[in-house]
Amino acid sequence: AIDPNFDQNREVVDEHEGHDVWGPVEEPEKLGIHGTHVAVDFDICDADGVCIEDCPVDVFEWVETPGHPTSERKADPANETQCIDCMLCVDVCPVDAIDVDST
Ligand code: SF4
Ligand code: F3S
Ligand code: ZN
Repeated sequence: AIDPNFDQNREVVDEHEGHDVWGPVEEPEKLGIHGTHVAVDFDICDADGVCIEDCPVDVFEWVETPGHPTSERKADPANETQCIDCMLCVDVCPVDAIDVDST
């Protein structure tokens, strides 16, 4: 599961579509965590897609990640500023790849 304390245990190493990327990143095998308020651990996400289907405000968008060992696309929190903290995505992701900081 995603580390809920990633913001203390990791460093921001990059930016993507207006959100932070928390390392370590070694493309294409290691992609880190995308987003901060809505954070998706790309190394855990296996492209289930239920977060994209269920988020009421369409926070997530697919990004292609060819060569990643777990899956070749990921749910990117492209619109994390739109999040309404419903926590649905956190509850439904089957591999616990998502953390939403509602505090
Ligand atoms: Fe979307 Fe709710 Fe998840 Fe925020 S907590 S990203 S609004 S499903
Ligand atoms: Fe990935 Fe979980 Fe969404 S596996 S696509 S973050 S439901
Ligand atoms: Zn991203």
